Amino acid sequence: MEPTKKLSNDDLRHLDKTVVWHAFSQMSEYDGLIIDSASGCWLTDIDGKRYLDGTSALWCNLFGHQVPELDGAIRNQLTRVAHVTNLGMSHPATIQLAQRLANLAPGELNHVFFSGDGASAVEVAMKLAFQYWRQCDTPAPERTKFIAFGDAYHGDTIGTVSVSGVSRFQSLFSPLLFEVLRGPCPDSFRRPSGMDPNQASQWYLSEYRKLLERHADETVAVIVEPMIQGAAGFVTQPPGFLRGIAELCREFGVLWIADEIAVGMGRTGRMFAIEHEGIHNEHSLLPDFLCLGKGLTGGYLAMSATLCSTRIWNAFLGRHAEMKTFFHGHTYGGNPLAAAAGNAVLDLFQTQYSMANLTPKIAHFQNCLAPLRELEIVGDVRQLGMMAAVDLVKNRESKEPFGWDERISAKVCKRLLDKGVWLRPLGNVLPILPPLSINDHDLDFLSRSIFESITEVQMELGKLEP
Ligand SMILES: Cc1ncc(COP(=O)(O)O)c(C=O)c1O
Repeated sequence: MEPTKKLSNDDLRHLDKTVVWHAFSQMSEYDGLIIDSASGCWLTDIDGKRYLDGTSALWCNLFGHQVPELDGAIRNQLTRVAHVTNLGMSHPATIQLAQRLANLAPGELNHVFFSGDGASAVEVAMKLAFQYWRQCDTPAPERTKFIAFGDAYHGDTIGTVSVSGVSRFQSLFSPLLFEVLRGPCPDSFRRPSGMDPNQASQWYLSEYRKLLERHADETVAVIVEPMIQGAAGFVTQPPGFLRGIAELCREFGVLWIADEIAVGMGRTGRMFAIEHEGIHNEHSLLPDFLCLGKGLTGGYLAMSATLCSTRIWNAFLGRHAEMKTFFHGHTYGGNPLAAAAGNAVLDLFQTQYSMANLTPKIAHFQNCLAPLRELEIVGDVRQLGMMAAVDLVKNRESKEPFGWDERISAKVCKRLLDKGVWLRPLGNVLPILPPLSINDHDLDFLSRSIFESITEVQMELGKLEP
């Protein structure tokens, strides 16, 4: 085996395109940045060029890079132990993180199963829900189906791809996927014609009511990404929808899973997105599972968590021979280094980055985004807390989208790179998720650069005279 050696920048570029297989990337066209270091919200590539990270390292970096508190927590943990298995063993940092998450979460979401990534956390919730119906006090083995939103995205494992509904990620694998009951994609922007958002909310809920009237008895759980479906295209749910779907789940006696991998951990201006519709104050409406990932370790280390209610937990208790055990686990589940980072993240939320402290920044972000609405190819600007997206359209009146292969937001991102801003495109949508720690000056630079880049692409399309 070759020892580690210092590679030239040219070697790095070559190897990065030919040996590293990048996620969601066409490797024959690949030309990504190679980052050498990062500090705060800024990345520096191997050529020394700096970029403002407007994507928070794919929505997970909460407080920037080289955060003294996070670096210190991990260094300190390294002086004890980097990893112990969580099969038959534990570590104080992991135990403490579980307890703090349980305390932070509303109601009886008191039990925490750790995994390494978002898809695994969602898959854990799905398997737990499935098994629950087989061993609860009123077993219902006929419950084999999940209800999911059209266009949902819940991860890339076979289970989570099954409940996801983004056809370009899913259709190839359809022979491998299990059948899912799918309702419409609740969408405030491209809502049914002639309806205002409140009417649309009621209409979407009536569709889910119909689905539950027909299928509740065979349904394991409804899986929901609360308030705004991120990877699905930053699709916002109309007002009242989230509360309404939680009420339907309770009325029809099915479980519900809140996938807060993207929207949780303060990203939307509330610690958990379910808080936007007051669900945290009404314990009867709380989800049975709350999935967290991404920001859980501040974007430092791979960790996710599935929080479960006491009702679920109790159904798994029994003697070994009863076979009520959850036979599932991941090698690095509950990793102490990641847990130490997670504890430091919760400390930072308690001190510098309380949700109340974030309010003026969210307002400033909103002001920064406002001018984008004037641009000809901007159909919609959606924002919830520090999570925003621009929906680029061919026609503002009809909301006609650009074709997928026109790669419109990729064109904007390319221009942004030249200006020293990194955003990752998503079809026709331009997601903007800066770290929660970004300062006003950088937010101004970010939004100004986006404005200029979209304007340039408009000109290229002949939509606006120079
Ligand atoms: C809502 C949602 N669920 C699940 C996932 C999967 O998370 P991971 O990429 O960490 O597996 C994502 C990732 O973007 C997500 O946005």
